[in-house]
Amino acid sequence: MTFEELKFIYDSVGKRKGWDFSKIRYAREPLPWYYADVVRNYLNTSSQVLDIGTGGGERFLELASNFGVGMGIDSDPTMIKITKRNIPTSFKDRVHFKEMSGEDLKFPNDTFDIVLNRHAPVYPKEIIRIMRADGIFITEQVGPKNTQNICKVFGCGPSGEYEIDPEQNVDSFIEVFKNNGCTVILHDDYNVRYWFCDLESLIFWLKGIPIPEDFNIEKHWREVNLIITEFITPKGIKTNEHRELLIVKCNEKLQ
Ligand SMILES: C[S@@+](CC[C@H](N)C(=O)[O-])C[C@H]1O[C@@H](n2cnc3c(N)ncnc32)[C@H](O)[C@@H]1O
Repeated sequence: MTFEELKFIYDSVGKRKGWDFSKIRYAREPLPWYYADVVRNYLNTSSQVLDIGTGGGERFLELASNFGVGMGIDSDPTMIKITKRNIPTSFKDRVHFKEMSGEDLKFPNDTFDIVLNRHAPVYPKEIIRIMRADGIFITEQVGPKNTQNICKVFGCGPSGEYEIDPEQNVDSFIEVFKNNGCTVILHDDYNVRYWFCDLESLIFWLKGIPIPEDFNIEKHWREVNLIITEFITPKGIKTNEHRELLIVKCNEKLQ
């Protein structure tokens, strides 16, 4: 495609608001788990829940009917502004959002029954501190092999793997949980085939994720063309989705 054709799509798809990717049209192989279903298994209507790195609260609010009181935090003030727009009036008295870093949680020890973290940095010692005895921590992380073929085009690691801060590697923070008296209930991953059904969806996604950090059609239109020509299939532009899931229970806190 020409630069002008791609630029037209780039301009017309708009920008991600919060972490809302619902515009993307995709197909995907069946998954062994769905994050929201996994979390719901641990919630009840009296649970006090913290969501770390909540973004615009999109995924946390989907769970709000299943818990008692919820607090979503994010270090980015723009995200917290978006949560105020996203929150339905019916949840306003029991779901709250605050600007805060997961590295320095402004809550007393033993405050929450359940702590959630979807696709955001994990700081285990703070999580353990603010969880009640028998508390559960659930995180889904984007795996290092996610969208490997696309990542490779943009010069990620040699086989297209994402660069992850070594302390944010799931195995590293599992060690910290274990060394602080917590037990791993589940650590799993999946890596399934995934297709962007149209070019608009691929370009919207590229604009919305940090790969490459400075994605811009003027700079990267040749790479987008390469992705289209190399990975187009009758189902769409093919790639893969890699996710890791970790569930931890902390009943013997050593702190
Ligand atoms: C990929 S988004 C995920 C948003 C949401 N959890 C979801 O699944 O849609 C990661 C979010 O983590 C936030 N974040 C990054 N570092 C953080 C930190 N140290 N403390 C709190 N939030 C952080 C970012 O601002 C961003 O909104």
